[in-house]
Amino acid sequence: MLAKASSERSVVCANRPLAEMSRFYVTTPIYYVNDVPHLGTAYTTIIADALRRYHLLRGHSTRMLTGTDEHGLKLEREAKKRGKAPAEFVTEMSDRFEATWPKLEVQPDDFIRTTQPRHEKLAQWFWEEIARRNPDDIYLGNYEGWYCVGCEDLKTEKELEQPGNICPLHKTPVERIKEPSYFFRLSHYQDRLLDHYKQHPKFIRPETRLNEVVSFVQSGLRDLSVSRTTFSWGIPVPGDPKHVMFVWFDALTNYWTALQGDEEHKKFWRGDSEIVHLVGKDILRFHTVYWPAFLMSAGIKLPTTVFAHGFLTVNGQKMSKSLRNAVDPLGIARAFGEAIGGNDAAGAEVLRYQLLRAISFGQDGDFDFAAMIERYNADLGKNLGNLLARTLGLCTKMTGGKVPPRTEITQLEKDLDSAIQADRRDAIAAWDALEPHRALERTWAIASAANQYVDRAAPWAEDKKGNRARVETILNTLLGVLAQLSVLIWPVMPTKSDEVRRQLGLQPIAPSGKDWLGGVEVEARAAGESLAPGLSLFPTLDPDKTHALLETLTPKVDAPAPGSAPAPGSAPAAAPASAIQYEQFSVVDLRVGVVRGAERVPKKDKLLKLSVDLGEPELRTIIAGLALSFQPEALVGRRVVVVANLAPREFGKGLVSHGMLLAAGPSEKLTLATVEGDAAPGVKIK
Ligand code: MSP
Repeated sequence: MLAKASSERSVVCANRPLAEMSRFYVTTPIYYVNDVPHLGTAYTTIIADALRRYHLLRGHSTRMLTGTDEHGLKLEREAKKRGKAPAEFVTEMSDRFEATWPKLEVQPDDFIRTTQPRHEKLAQWFWEEIARRNPDDIYLGNYEGWYCVGCEDLKTEKELEQPGNICPLHKTPVERIKEPSYFFRLSHYQDRLLDHYKQHPKFIRPETRLNEVVSFVQSGLRDLSVSRTTFSWGIPVPGDPKHVMFVWFDALTNYWTALQGDEEHKKFWRGDSEIVHLVGKDILRFHTVYWPAFLMSAGIKLPTTVFAHGFLTVNGQKMSKSLRNAVDPLGIARAFGEAIGGNDAAGAEVLRYQLLRAISFGQDGDFDFAAMIERYNADLGKNLGNLLARTLGLCTKMTGGKVPPRTEITQLEKDLDSAIQADRRDAIAAWDALEPHRALERTWAIASAANQYVDRAAPWAEDKKGNRARVETILNTLLGVLAQLSVLIWPVMPTKSDEVRRQLGLQPIAPSGKDWLGGVEVEARAAGESLAPGLSLFPTLDPDKTHALLETLTPKVDAPAPGSAPAPGSAPAAAPASAIQYEQFSVVDLRVGVVRGAERVPKKDKLLKLSVDLGEPELRTIIAGLALSFQPEALVGRRVVVVANLAPREFGKGLVSHGMLLAAGPSEKLTLATVEGDAAPGVKIK
């Protein structure tokens, strides 16, 4: 997997010595291996890869790191649940992550696992270095408080939902822990952190996140418990092996430990190297408060930027690992690849485009499959794909399939050139500002401008008039724009870029230390070179294909829980590593219910309040996310399938759901799961 990436690197080194080059180091979070990769984790990883490629295009020396976070109580328990030794289990799962990324055209330079000796040794060194430089910073004490195993984090009373001490993120009860623990004197770093944020406005991005962190730090920092004694799946604390390191202490150091094995790699954490950590908003505090404080204490340079992106929903529904209706990115790539008559790589590139274009990086966003197909047809099919096809078609007809000369430039070309220069500058600025959605928007504005230009310049009309010089100039201009587009799309669609270039008769892009985005003017192609028109780049999807693709893409097995929190522990059927045992399934009490009453919930557009007969003395109140698909009255009398033993869940003041209905489909088009015949209310479904 790493072979291609390192060959790209060595080309860079061959052309220019590293010392003279700007260095760009981008990291993703290291992923917990209690789950398989999903669209959320793919999102960050794909953006990291696109940024890596953008910097390669600029001729910079780049390095991308991803990997897996393999210690901690959550993984120890998960392994046990599956009857496996932790080491065996984490290896199996980590392999799935490592195998997934290249299939999404992601080529990290390194893949770190926190169970690797190279990491364990250096994480211990890190701990010792803190203790050596600041003996007061790590001290032994006792910890008593709440712990969420899902978050692998301590929680204060204030952070929990009541009743039941529920973690607001995982919707599961937290655990009480009381044990000896080493503490990190985080309280000493409050002023230094605030000062760092002030001196380095790019450290936390986007700005709204900076404000959030500043007010958290200003409200006072408590020392942090950084070791545990009640389980052993972790890195032993140096000098006191009864303790293992707090999994976040171990994990955060990965960004630095991964570079230490090689002198060239170490340079990525030195000097003016740009170090960018991409993280989800849920793990911002770890990266912008704990991590910089650890680094300050160890006397190590801080990263340049921690960029927190938002959370993705899929078809309007929540998607996260612990709430498990995640979507498989490889499944989406495969389905799209098939629908457009290409391979999985073609599908993966469409997915890359969609993820980067549809969601403003930094904001929450919805990944909607119908919108994705629409955008595919419009941006990729009708805009870029069509521009290539019509340009090459015209060249075949009018210039004998060769690049024509550019001899008669008019105001039309001048206007196009300046529009393109502006868009191109904006696209580059957007990549630099970590705004891939805007970079792509500006890139596609170039394709739109070129399509409008060809309509206005009308080479077919000039051809009819016998105006050869104009025909040639127009087609040469279009070929130049396409050549530029092939460069600009490379960070997000490297294989399609190769294909565009092949059809244009150009070599694929091979980053080589040169700045591919350096020129500003529309490049003119040399006359006489051969073109090689090929298959349609992005065949548009007709209504039948669109319908079939939507059917395939809409999540089924992990369908959203319309009434309440999905049961944690259910996993995609296609994921054997997360298959459940019959015993696990059998704890779910499924019953036939009959809806006796239904009403809308004020101020909650999606919710209905149902009274459901389960053959019990009283009707059950179930709050269900059905309002976008059903009128309340249409539900009365319906036979439904109810998860009867789900813990009550509060949806707002006085609005508690005592069970969940099963349904399939997106929120606007749900169909209810039901049973045939006239089974009595309360009958068990087995
Ligand atoms: N292991 C820690 C990170 C340690 S980094 C030193 C961890 N792992 S995780 O696997 O739970 O999550 C990894 C990342 O996935 C987080 O950045 C999280 O925000 C992201 N996402 C999980 N669900 C997501 C969405 N639905 N949408 C976008 N990103 C999501 O936390």
